[in-house]
Amino acid sequence: MVAKSSAIAVAIGFAAWAYAASQSQSAPQSGATAAHSLPPQAVCSCLPPGGDRSPLIIILYSSQFVDPRSFAVLGNNGPFRESSFTQFFNPTNTTPPFFQVFHPDFLKILGPSATIRAVAANPTFAFAHEAPIWLPATDEVTFASNDGGALGMSDIDHNNQVSRISLKEVEAAIAKAGKSHAPVNVSVTKLDLPDTIQMTNGGTGPFFGNLILVNSGRGPLPPSVALVNPSPPHNTTVLLDNFFGRQFNSLNDVKIRPGTNTLFFTDVTYGFLNHFRPLPLMPNQVYRLEPDTRRVRVVADGFDRCNGIAFSRDGKTAFVTDTGANAGFLGNNQTEPATIYAFDVDPKTEAFKNRRVFAYVDTGIADGVQLDAEDNLYAGCGDGVQVWNPEGALLGKFFLGTTSANLVFAGDSRLVIMAETAIYFAEIAAKANKLFFP
Ligand SMILES: *[C@@H]1O[C@H](CO)[C@@H](O)[C@H](O)[C@H]1NC(C)=O
Ligand SMILES: *[C@@H]1O[C@H](CO)[C@@H](O)[C@H](O)[C@H]1NC(C)=O
Ligand SMILES: *[C@@H]1O[C@H](CO)[C@@H](O)[C@H](O)[C@H]1NC(C)=O
Repeated sequence: MVAKSSAIAVAIGFAAWAYAASQSQSAPQSGATAAHSLPPQAVCSCLPPGGDRSPLIIILYSSQFVDPRSFAVLGNNGPFRESSFTQFFNPTNTTPPFFQVFHPDFLKILGPSATIRAVAANPTFAFAHEAPIWLPATDEVTFASNDGGALGMSDIDHNNQVSRISLKEVEAAIAKAGKSHAPVNVSVTKLDLPDTIQMTNGGTGPFFGNLILVNSGRGPLPPSVALVNPSPPHNTTVLLDNFFGRQFNSLNDVKIRPGTNTLFFTDVTYGFLNHFRPLPLMPNQVYRLEPDTRRVRVVADGFDRCNGIAFSRDGKTAFVTDTGANAGFLGNNQTEPATIYAFDVDPKTEAFKNRRVFAYVDTGIADGVQLDAEDNLYAGCGDGVQVWNPEGALLGKFFLGTTSANLVFAGDSRLVIMAETAIYFAEIAAKANKLFFP
């Protein structure tokens, strides 16, 4: 029952059998490293107990191939999970961060020398929550801290903050650290934004040189869509802060539809559910905004709690996550959606049609979503970043063992992952889906 990824040039380690073994052992295993005493990127000729006796070779740093056939049947006394929020699916018991591979195609995304490590961390402050934007001109990534949630240091009386890191500094720190894969810790610089920007939760661009930020609002201060100069003095143009006079609930995420200059953003009740916005006045829905004319209208509704948004590269398919399973102060309810929906974008009206399930996630919720140049979809989830192919097959995970709310490609082969109290940086093979316009 040992799977062989014969379609690809490298043979990969197959450590799923350690799952069964670890259930009956008192000493915890730590994936390939502990189970086989392997240094990173070593070649292993260890054998699984019974079954196929082919030698196993581990080439990728910290990757674990978990064949679905190895856990399809857990048995009467199997180690079933009770919770998608408090229990992870880590059958190899590997210490994060690592690449959890469910499908050989994930190795094409990773490439033969993929790495992942924390590049900034602050255990007491969820400084890296959402709104990641890569600025190609300066090779920086901007992002927002958690708004109203755990370790966010923001509430109805305190705004959250937008910061940036330099990827030049990241690359230099990694070069200095050598091939150790050890975490590095670059500086995080707060952007001094005007008071019109309240509780930033989503972002994309740059759009004609500006950050596009969507802001949840705070108390009576309105949610807004704004253009922000990424350079000092960070002057801002608010494009929209109401729907024909009514405030939005709390804006959450935004994307530009490829091939257009049109913005699409989600509005949801998390500001209220995290104690920093008044009672909602409208349904949770997706809006379309023309930045020039400021015409705004609804393109999709019927969500429990709509959240992240992304488009296929041709702009014909929209993806919206529904994070209904997370209800802020009302608690988590895993019988509610943790689901990514796909839609056809009507070529004439740009309304979202033909809603269908793209993927349901096994851990936590799928929050922010991004696509790569092959239209594989990456979502920030309860255990890190999960990746599906365009048909909705789960290929693998950037397994962090902690929540990621969003991520962004910083050009080809570089993934910057928001993980609340840390930022992770992955060097992989996949190419980026361009998010900056023009
Ligand atoms: C990283 O540096 C920041 C200061 O820039 C510090 O607050 C934080 O504790 C450091 N993180 C780690 C994990 O050392
Ligand atoms: C910032 O100010 C400059 C100079 O007045 C202006 O050209 C630019 O459009 C402003 N940017 C925004 C986002 O308001
Ligand atoms: C969870 O959601 C389901 C479906 O909406 C509902 O029937 C149930 O009462 C909820 N459970 C809790 C504990 O709120």
